[in-house]
Amino acid sequence: MTDVSDGVLRTLFRSEQGGHEQVVLVQDRSSGLKAVIALHSTALGPALGGTRFYPYADEAEAVADALNLARGMSYKNALAGLGHGGGKAVIIGDPERDKTEELLLAYGRAVASLGGRYVTACDVGTYVADMDVVARENRWTTGRSPENGGAGDSSVLTAFGVYQGMRASAQHQWGDPSLRGRKVGVAGIGKVGRHLVGHLLAEGAEVVVTDVREEAVRLITERHPEVTAAPDTGALLRTAGLDVYAPCALGGALNDETVPALTAKVVCGAANNQLAHPGIEKDLADRGVLYAPDYVINAGGVIQVADELHGFDFDRCKQKAAKIFDTTLEIFARAKSDGVPPAAAADRLAEQRMADGLRG
Ligand SMILES: NC(=O)c1ccc[n+]([C@@H]2O[C@H](COP(=O)([O-])OP(=O)(O)OC[C@H]3O[C@@H](n4cnc5c(N)ncnc54)[C@H](O)[C@@H]3O)[C@@H](O)[C@H]2O)c1
Repeated sequence: MTDVSDGVLRTLFRSEQGGHEQVVLVQDRSSGLKAVIALHSTALGPALGGTRFYPYADEAEAVADALNLARGMSYKNALAGLGHGGGKAVIIGDPERDKTEELLLAYGRAVASLGGRYVTACDVGTYVADMDVVARENRWTTGRSPENGGAGDSSVLTAFGVYQGMRASAQHQWGDPSLRGRKVGVAGIGKVGRHLVGHLLAEGAEVVVTDVREEAVRLITERHPEVTAAPDTGALLRTAGLDVYAPCALGGALNDETVPALTAKVVCGAANNQLAHPGIEKDLADRGVLYAPDYVINAGGVIQVADELHGFDFDRCKQKAAKIFDTTLEIFARAKSDGVPPAAAADRLAEQRMADGLRG
């Protein structure tokens, strides 16, 4: 017998991403909810990760995405020093068309049914206002609005963490964490990018930006006239004397086109999934470019949503996000001693922490 479910089951049990603890397929007929909740690991504590609302082509694609994202969260949470494992949920559908209060409440009950093994938050296609609704059905929803006991926008701490990772990168590459006088190119000056620009200017760095939205460029150059703008990412990468490239827009920023064009000796930015394919990290290393693994340095947001569960405290979170400096340095040191790229060293460190968690 072969049908759609056969494809889903194959993805689940026979995929190379195997090793997940639990995967729950959720259906609520009256609201139309169809979701996948994947728990990769609870070795370090309840699995934490956001809810993606996306129009997947079919169920197998949704399962594969949930498995992949949940696994990534285990690694990210382990390196952020959180008492959380990794999980992720995906809701199958077009958020513009299919998202209703009834559906979000049904999803909230599905999260409740896991009794705290899974803690949810926002991701692509879900927002703070949605988490306020989901939270009405359970105690394990974060990323809520301040009016509902949440911490709100996470980009402030994400940018602070990226800034710490960049200082650690400077320390490793040039023997001094200061970014004073360094030329930094920021591609994507949205929520995270513009806060990052603020930190860089405060430290005396020279900043070049680019964004596909002219409005975003206008806002930042009006506010900070010392910032210069490049017409696009290609031009930004070719900027004379660029020391650091900070991708803060979409995934896949480091690819077969951008890496050969790089003149900067450090890449450190907020964007998720920067490496377009396996092997790119080796290309970077071959060119003498130091790559700060994205999931390590953009962990400020997840540190914030984890903190929210215990009553959000900005200063406590900022202290935790400041540790991204030490973790990044440790990863670079291990990469050097093990003779592997930093992305591989980061994965090894996360795996060690999870194994220690299981033993402990
Ligand atoms: N917000 C957070 O707390 C957080 C946490 C972890 C990771 N991230 C990641 O960081 C990145 C930025 O997040 P954000 O919240 O600032 O998003 P955002 O949507 O507010 O900003 C992204 C910016 O990038 C610009 N952009 C898109 N394509 C571009 C291109 N080709 N060239 C130049 N600019 C382009 C957009 O116009 C926008 O201004 C994303 O990859 C996100 O997944 C964000």
